[in-house]
Amino acid sequence: MPLKVLFASAEVAPFRKTGGLADVAGALPKALADNGVDVRVVTPFYQGTPTDGTERLDMAVRVPMYFGTRAAGVRRAQLPGTAVPVYLLENDHYYDRPALYGYGDNLERFVFLSRGALELTKVLDWVPDVVHANDWHTALMPVYVNTVEWARPLHGAATVYTIHNLAYQGDEDGGAHFVTALGPEHFNEWEFEHFGRFNPVKAAIRHSTKLSTVSPRYAGEIQTSDFGGGLDGELAARRADLHGILNGIDTTDWDPARDPHIAAHFDRDDLTGKAVCKAALQREAGLAERTDVPLLGVVSRLTPQKGLDILADAFGRMAGWDLQLVLLGAGDPADESRFAALAADHPDRLRCFIGFDNGLAHRIEAGCDFLVIPSRFEPCGLNQMYSMRYGTLPIVRATGGLADSVDNYAGSTGAGTGFVFHDLTVDALVGTVGWALSVWRDRPEHILAMRRRTMVRDWSWHRAGAEYERLYLEAYARRRGHAFRG
Ligand code: ADP
Ligand code: GLC
Repeated sequence: MPLKVLFASAEVAPFRKTGGLADVAGALPKALADNGVDVRVVTPFYQGTPTDGTERLDMAVRVPMYFGTRAAGVRRAQLPGTAVPVYLLENDHYYDRPALYGYGDNLERFVFLSRGALELTKVLDWVPDVVHANDWHTALMPVYVNTVEWARPLHGAATVYTIHNLAYQGDEDGGAHFVTALGPEHFNEWEFEHFGRFNPVKAAIRHSTKLSTVSPRYAGEIQTSDFGGGLDGELAARRADLHGILNGIDTTDWDPARDPHIAAHFDRDDLTGKAVCKAALQREAGLAERTDVPLLGVVSRLTPQKGLDILADAFGRMAGWDLQLVLLGAGDPADESRFAALAADHPDRLRCFIGFDNGLAHRIEAGCDFLVIPSRFEPCGLNQMYSMRYGTLPIVRATGGLADSVDNYAGSTGAGTGFVFHDLTVDALVGTVGWALSVWRDRPEHILAMRRRTMVRDWSWHRAGAEYERLYLEAYARRRGHAFRG
């Protein structure tokens, strides 16, 4: 019997996506399945989730909520190109809304997902060995598995909780605790209560058999007060069970030799297609079609996390430099209008696309010379890996997974896979961009060698998939008191 893993996430690519969580939830299960794990994915059926390839199952899951039960319809799909089942929980009241997040009843919507996912396993008569929850939306799952009577068949399941981003904790006023339908006795300092507030991530940290986060560097960082979001003490207390596993990327989806979104294909041996992609992107962005100007890109959620305020300031300081910048981003309206205004002032050097556009994200990764990621913190970051796979050299701040995945250019020897700076200051960013551009102009052979080096690195999920499998087996052994026998 293979190991059975229930994998729950608020977003799963290609169904619905706002960021890297979806990419991970859409790709890691494939790697697990390739290794023989019986993994099943659960996520909401949101407005806008494509229905082709989904089949409405003739069943309803009755989800216990604080006010009684509420039914979830179930649609079944598969991760593209695999047999990995994805169960989409359907409830129009909660999920038939334009956005995924940002509603006053978010807690209730994700309680419904968390309890619904567990309840579904009973309806399917499929009892997982491991329940893998991701980020605050499903943080309640390990707590339910441990505590509630209706989850009894699952009491033997080990739980793994992965932190993709500690900036989002789903915390609310203490009074919100009743929405979990766990009794008030669980609102205590050991579980949900954190400085008077309700905090589901704290409870997950306390209740899960094992914890992980998405890079080794971030695993260390979140145990410090600078990055721990107030939970550093909780995480440090469990440091022996907290594993940093660097994400992989979906190398089928992100493949310059086959990508359907880009103007021409290329690989490490023949980069002619990359030049075609650059020209096509310059055209699409309304910038001059020139080979002799470096093209920089940004693909990002616009949130303080990403440090793009520093880039906006730095751009003013680089006003005299011959460069082009294409930015694709959505999020914070203040950032959106700031970049739109900058672009209006510099139409020949900066083009901003505001919105979410997956195809354009691929074209930017493929067509640029450099991708800029000046994050304040970055649990893992996938864009730098996508860019490297497309021979686009990342310029990154040394934090979290950026530090773990980009090696700084070494100057005379030409070693390295990108350009790395440490202090999040305009000076440091301007200096590092200037350094990258001077290498681009004066040492093109180094740039070419770096591109080729980054393109052959193995970014696939196989390594990380194997690490997660080891973690599941450790969690299982801890929970059951004996090794998984299959
Ligand atoms: P995060 O999850 O913090 O946003 P990651 O680098 O892990 O950062 O993942 C971001 C993912 O979202 C990448 O796949 C990236 O291409 C995608 N993305 C971000 N913003 C946009 C956008 N505006 N349009 C299209 N894709 C985007
Ligand atoms: C989060 C993080 C990002 C990470 C992604 C997937 O959104 O911000 O750094 O790559 O999750 O784990």
